[in-house]
Amino acid sequence: MQFIDLKSQYSSYKSAIDARMSAVMDHGHFIMGPEIAELESALAGYVGVKHCLTVASGTDSLEIALRALGIGPGDEVVTVPFTWISSAEVIGLVGARPVFVDIEPDSYNLNIDLLEKAVTPRTKAIMPVSLFGQMPDYDRINAIAARHGIPVIEDGAQSFGATRHDRRSCGVTAIGSTSFFPAKPLGCYGDGGALFTSDDALEEKMRAIRTHGGVKRHHHPLLGMNGRFDTLQAAVLLAKFPHFEWEVKERNRIGARYSEMLREVCTVPEVAPGNTHVYAQYTVRARNRDTVAAKLKEQGIPTAVYYPKCLHEQPVFAACGYKLADFPVSEQASREVLSLPMHPFLSASDQDRIVSALKMSLVS
Ligand SMILES: Cc1ncc(COP(=O)(O)O)c(C=O)c1O
Repeated sequence: MQFIDLKSQYSSYKSAIDARMSAVMDHGHFIMGPEIAELESALAGYVGVKHCLTVASGTDSLEIALRALGIGPGDEVVTVPFTWISSAEVIGLVGARPVFVDIEPDSYNLNIDLLEKAVTPRTKAIMPVSLFGQMPDYDRINAIAARHGIPVIEDGAQSFGATRHDRRSCGVTAIGSTSFFPAKPLGCYGDGGALFTSDDALEEKMRAIRTHGGVKRHHHPLLGMNGRFDTLQAAVLLAKFPHFEWEVKERNRIGARYSEMLREVCTVPEVAPGNTHVYAQYTVRARNRDTVAAKLKEQGIPTAVYYPKCLHEQPVFAACGYKLADFPVSEQASREVLSLPMHPFLSASDQDRIVSALKMSLVS
């Protein structure tokens, strides 16, 4: 059994993926080939924004967003401590300071009631994460940000395809960012990511930063990077994208089926009213999480822990001055969470086996 079954996915779409990739091999435009613009146009339409900019990874996309907003030394950016390292790493990379706000226990997303207290005159952006595949209440977050005149960047690396009141992840804030890492809801076969915005000036800046800060060849007004998305990976996504809505539906169905079967025995992920969830991770909680994981492993069932340590506990952020117990909800989550196999090709029989093994291991 696979935690995320990319092999079944590839064999289902193989002919389209192979044809798209071999078209790139034939035309030979490996850097910024025509597939890049084709994909960007399809994804911007899907998300419902004016511009999509594909980039080399979901980490680069966040860094490009921060750079385009002019964030640097002396500035603060608010995010959560319970997320993948990239969310705060990029804040440090541009020379700013991450300011953490604790999460809600049910959705694992930023606790908006605590947000305003964290905003200071040095705060230059709020960067919430749509963790595990569902969005926080961006209307409330945007309203707080607007009161302080600062932009919101959605780290939607795990939530591409999710909706909140029918608006799609990555399309509800000044800038949306996602990742195409293979295990993500829309994954390619290498690294990749994308930025989304309807702001023409921001788009222009982000486009320049993506390619060495250049607006035209050999003219570099901005400090940029080599952050381009690979054309072959764009070809993979173009072949996979027509199946994405089906995959999102399956993720929803499989996630809901897990919750129905597990709600009685452990804490299951709660979908906030008005939300759809894409379950980049299907994550339950167990006090004896490590024992449960070991027992499932003995039965050939892979699990994963996202995340065993909060970011304020990571040595790289020691200089931020946080200590244990500063973010109790995040810290408790990091001790209890366990993610189960989750992908659109998970069969009902495999899911039944996972559920009964989990039930047994929770009681024994
Ligand atoms: C919440 C979050 N932010 C950012 C990233 C970074 O994406 P990438 O791995 O494409 O750089 C990830 C990916 O793991 C993520 O889960």
